[in-house]
Amino acid sequence: MNELANSSIIGAAKPRIDGPKKVSGQAKYAADHPMPGLVYGYGVFSTISKGRVVSIDTTQAKRLAGVIDVFHHDNFPSLYHTPSSMEGENHVDETRLPFEDDRVYYAGQFVAMVVASSFAVAREAARMVKVSYKTEKPVTTLTQAKAVGVKPKPDKESAHERGKPDDVFAQAKHKIDVTYTTPVETHNPMEMHATTALWEDGSLLMYEATQGVVFARNTMAAIFGLPPERVEVRAPFIGSGFGGKLWIWPHAIATAAIAREIGRPVQFVVPRAQMFTTTGHRPATEQHIRMSTDGKGRLTSLTHETLNTTSPVGTVAESAGRCTSSLYACPNVRVTHATLETNVGTPTAMRAPGAAPGLYALESAMDEMAEVLGMDPLEFRRVNYTDRDQSIGLPFSSIHLLEAFERGAKEFGWAKRNPKVGSMRDGNEVIGWGVAACNWDATKMGCEARVSLRADGTVFGSCATQDIGTGTYNVVAQTLAGVTGIDLDRIEVKIGDSSYSRGPISGGSWATATVMPALSQAAQKAIEQLGKYAVDEGGAFAGADPEALKFANGKLTGPNGRSIDFTEILRQKKIAAAEGTAKTSAEPSKEYSCKSFGAHFVEVRWDPGISRLRVSRVVSAIDTGQIVNEKTAANQVEGAIVMGIGMALFEHTEYDLNSGRPVNNDLAEYLMPVHGDQPPELNVILLKHPDYNFSEFGVRGIGEIGITGLAGAVANAVYHATGKRIRDLPITLDKLITV
Ligand code: MOS
Repeated sequence: MNELANSSIIGAAKPRIDGPKKVSGQAKYAADHPMPGLVYGYGVFSTISKGRVVSIDTTQAKRLAGVIDVFHHDNFPSLYHTPSSMEGENHVDETRLPFEDDRVYYAGQFVAMVVASSFAVAREAARMVKVSYKTEKPVTTLTQAKAVGVKPKPDKESAHERGKPDDVFAQAKHKIDVTYTTPVETHNPMEMHATTALWEDGSLLMYEATQGVVFARNTMAAIFGLPPERVEVRAPFIGSGFGGKLWIWPHAIATAAIAREIGRPVQFVVPRAQMFTTTGHRPATEQHIRMSTDGKGRLTSLTHETLNTTSPVGTVAESAGRCTSSLYACPNVRVTHATLETNVGTPTAMRAPGAAPGLYALESAMDEMAEVLGMDPLEFRRVNYTDRDQSIGLPFSSIHLLEAFERGAKEFGWAKRNPKVGSMRDGNEVIGWGVAACNWDATKMGCEARVSLRADGTVFGSCATQDIGTGTYNVVAQTLAGVTGIDLDRIEVKIGDSSYSRGPISGGSWATATVMPALSQAAQKAIEQLGKYAVDEGGAFAGADPEALKFANGKLTGPNGRSIDFTEILRQKKIAAAEGTAKTSAEPSKEYSCKSFGAHFVEVRWDPGISRLRVSRVVSAIDTGQIVNEKTAANQVEGAIVMGIGMALFEHTEYDLNSGRPVNNDLAEYLMPVHGDQPPELNVILLKHPDYNFSEFGVRGIGEIGITGLAGAVANAVYHATGKRIRDLPITLDKLITV
């Protein structure tokens, strides 16, 4: 455990230190970097989803004033495939290089890129490029893929089996056998993907909308055959990503390659429509769950078999069963995942990948099973509680799921629930109450950081991580304030640049637990360095034993009891800063299974007369360990709940089955919750039990857990109100209207 000079700053609900820059327009995003000679790219995107490019006629496009060139598979420079290894911090989900050949694998794939003096000219010229195709019949959806006999490709790594689930299920008296489906969902962060690329002396500088400056740097270096030192990726501000910006996509590679070819900086912004094709999505899933219990409601068998769509240019398995193997006690379990190739762009991680669709299915099934048993659904979950991860035979590092159930239920008023379907009414509205558990992994990585105590009285901390809106700027600043006892307004944080010391991606909810130890250790080293200056000849405590010094609230106290401000110590020695660096490593725990937990309680209101369904109330109790900033943490869960409402009721990328093109590829037609869809009451309870078995500050992570289970809780509430068990997301009104 860490000794903190100011422990009250850890957890404090401080405003975002990056807030003033954001609200005053000074925060610069990837496409906010004007530079001399900057030119603009625009894509020509395939209108077919399977086949070949037969010819590309650029004559007319090139005649337009301001057009510099048009690149496609005949004139695009040759690049390298990346080995794509997580250990090497280098990854792409779409494994094909842009313009690698004449093949078309999905609609919206880049077939050419125009570069011109302005965005408007580039876009105009892109429309003048004439492409002819040889079209083959595509397979677009999961249903189509199954119908035409596409062979599932098992994902062996994520499979789990224990006991004899099939035999036990076959003989069980109390059981359910159900299948749930979830659609393709598309990440729609406010900031679209964007790249600004500049080459100088054979080195690449990129402003990239990325959730991982280090991964982006390493990936680009591999693709361009450069040492990583010759690539610098900057992302000081990101307009969120939700997983879509974890990895490098074709536009970034193409933009950098073209900038090198033409010898000028190039900016490319992915149009919103192509955010639905070339930058990943959450794939469609079909999840088959079988569950049995004994007469007391204890699970005796559980199988969760998932199929998901993927693309011909990258296989991504959606690990929907990832929570099923350990969330509840059960001796006989099987979890499998397999992918089906379709002609869509490559899927990728989207907020709580696997768990978000997976817990919709599992937590719906728990509700269905409770009903078969005639049990209260919350009681059914309590009966199956376990404090051990039975999939690996280890205790959880910290689990307060029962407390989450209890506190959430109390706050929500669960005890007043009438279990009879459709029995709770308020005027014209039927009220439904549903519950679901949430669950997400706690993970941390190795990290490096640098901290300086500076003679001007400020503290400087840097790390090559980034803040995608989650509050990482504050996590860094509050950690440094905690270790040094120096006020937040005297702390300068630099993140969002791959040239700083190696830091984590903003993904997997692991950034907070990863950066805190590295920054605190670097700060301790800086304090030690300060102590050395103090005991040196001419120092404030010359000749004293450095071990006898104490640092608190910016002051060093010597053996004689005298306290001197750190700025004074540095000034006496005429030294600008006391510096410290640290490097942490993180091995997965051998003693514990590290996960986060929680519970959602949801109220829906269904007005059958006018077919109106609303989520009116959500209470969520969240168990993610120590909280670093109460405000940003609650904000993450609130945002995830709203995103979960979108998943439950609205989000659905729809494809034209003949062309394979997404049809609702804009923010008007792709429905997401707006202000009017937010529940009037949204109450996040943070349990705040530090998990020192997982990390030295007791923190886990909080970015993703809030979306897990939410759609399940909504579906369960909808059933309670309407008697309709919707096993296919989203829960649109047509599915509720009785004909
Ligand atoms: Mo998250 S889906 O790891 O950005």
